[in-house]
Amino acid sequence: MTDLSTLEPAIIDPFGRMVSYLRVSVTDRCDFRCVYCMAENMTFLPKKELLTLEELDRLCTVFIEKGVKKLRLTGGEPLVRKGIMELVNSLGRHLKTGALEELTLTTNGSQLHKFADDLYKAGVRRVNVSLDTLDADKFAKITRWGQLNQVYRGLEAAKKAGLQVKINTVALKGVNEDEIETMLNWAIGEGYDFTLIETMPLGEIDEDRTEQYLPLSTVRSRLQENFELTAIAYKTGGPARYYEATNKSNQAKGRIGFITPMTHNFCESCNRVRLTCTGTLFMCLGQDDAADLRAPLRTSEGNEAVSKAIDEAISRKPKGHDFIIERNQAPSVNRHMSTTGG
Ligand code: 5AD
Ligand code: SF4
Repeated sequence: MTDLSTLEPAIIDPFGRMVSYLRVSVTDRCDFRCVYCMAENMTFLPKKELLTLEELDRLCTVFIEKGVKKLRLTGGEPLVRKGIMELVNSLGRHLKTGALEELTLTTNGSQLHKFADDLYKAGVRRVNVSLDTLDADKFAKITRWGQLNQVYRGLEAAKKAGLQVKINTVALKGVNEDEIETMLNWAIGEGYDFTLIETMPLGEIDEDRTEQYLPLSTVRSRLQENFELTAIAYKTGGPARYYEATNKSNQAKGRIGFITPMTHNFCESCNRVRLTCTGTLFMCLGQDDAADLRAPLRTSEGNEAVSKAIDEAISRKPKGHDFIIERNQAPSVNRHMSTTGG
């Protein structure tokens, strides 16, 4: 007979996918207003709606006890959440015990110079920095409110602190498509991984997404003129497919990832769920179904009710998203990425 007590805990969905990765949006707020992500005039949640840092910690801990191995803090911009380091430090204890394999962060970099050292001390080893251009004017236009210098400062601090950096770039037609090669060369030079993302129809924005959408199949073929791209097995737990990129003129080598929700659906290998800062669990970025974990969290001292609510939610994890970007087509879901967490 199998001794069940020695088996590792695991959360498995109806399609046999193991949910080992939790992304937590710790705030829906951001100090930028990227044109593809948000409208300029956004209404955010009243602060009293938010889970406290202790509650977020408790929820994450239940997920870890149930088998989550990788945890990513996102937002909005996670580093604008007041007291965020308390949460990061506290979650770091699960790295020490080995229950959690990785604690990471997705950030726009604006506050990274203040936090890089402390993040490293808390056990964070990698950060994803969202950056769509290296041109200061363009950066100001894309982010509406951001300053490129501040992000450079954050990147320097991250490097000094010993954090491995991955640059996440949303490919935008007519905006940064002429810069992608420059960005790849820059990332290779700096020792950063570089990942491109297709824009997704999440939430209402002021611009027309059909104008922004650039299929990565196009970008990849263009890159092949000046780079040798060789598919590699490298994985970071997310949906990116990686290639080794070699610059044909100077032989410099780096890694490039492609995240292609539009041109190549990767849902069949999905290993993740997303928790919002109000304790709502979304089982898919591109579907509306969700489960409230705040009520079971607040109404019972023990974690049994939360654990049950998680199992119940995972039993409804949908097969995948059905994103479409077409003229006059409403977004697939009304939530922005900043609500659900990237
Ligand atoms: N489509 C694709 N990527 C998006 N991001 C934000 N909104 C969208 C969208 N609609 C990106 C951010 C960041 C990551 C968390 O998600 O630029 O890199
Ligand atoms: Fe998974 Fe949903 Fe993302 Fe698809 S869109 S990979 S199902 S979370």
